Amino acid sequence: MEISTENNWYKNFNLLIFDEIDSTNEEAKRLCHAGIKENFIIWAKSQTKGKGRQGKKWISPENNLYLSLLIRPNCTASEATNFSFLAAIAAGEAIKENSINCNSLEYKWPNDLMFNKKKFGGILLESSLKSNSEHIDWLVIGIGINIFSYPMENIQYPATSLKEAEIDISCEKLLGDLMKNFAYYYKKWEIEGFENIRLKWIEKAMNLGKVITINTNQYYKLWKPQY
Ligand code: BTN
Repeated sequence: MEISTENNWYKNFNLLIFDEIDSTNEEAKRLCHAGIKENFIIWAKSQTKGKGRQGKKWISPENNLYLSLLIRPNCTASEATNFSFLAAIAAGEAIKENSINCNSLEYKWPNDLMFNKKKFGGILLESSLKSNSEHIDWLVIGIGINIFSYPMENIQYPATSLKEAEIDISCEKLLGDLMKNFAYYYKKWEIEGFENIRLKWIEKAMNLGKVITINTNQYYKLWKPQY
């Protein structure tokens, strides 16, 4: 199956495809450290050292989607966190476009994609500051989506896959549609800022207005998020 090029997103991104890699985020960072200045998408069919948040592993067998976007937005480190929400919307909308019933699709703060209250996708941001500046030099947005399978052991929260949610979509189709949406929202962010993206995310936010427990690894905290 071919990757959709709607919106001409491919004109602003170089695409690297690997059958297997340690971690697409690590490959993106290797490109940064080699001085690459262009936008890149690194897509791997499987990962041997996939990384999740808080030092967790992201088990990465074939037939799920693993990609990292390398971009250099003009923003501070704190503004760069906008891209976790932007990427979640890009993925969520792509899935909605390919499914008849997506009422149970939700975004969970800070960067989880949920179906029927179970996690099927996650986003891992990594960035580096320019020297003597509050602005970032580069940003890597790692996106993992369980299309076909999901981990059953050693998981903190219930997991699922798009297949289990009866959403039939290939990696290529999801990648193309996600990138089409990402390019659209990235441009919107550059022109209008974060507000409309924030509102779009809130429309489908899980636990909105509820007090939530955050596990920071060091301690548990009760907190009411201000989105
Ligand atoms: C999370 O903990 O929810 C974030 C998971 C992010 C996984 C993706 S898969 C592609 C990219 N490469 C990695 O090693 N991690 C991210």
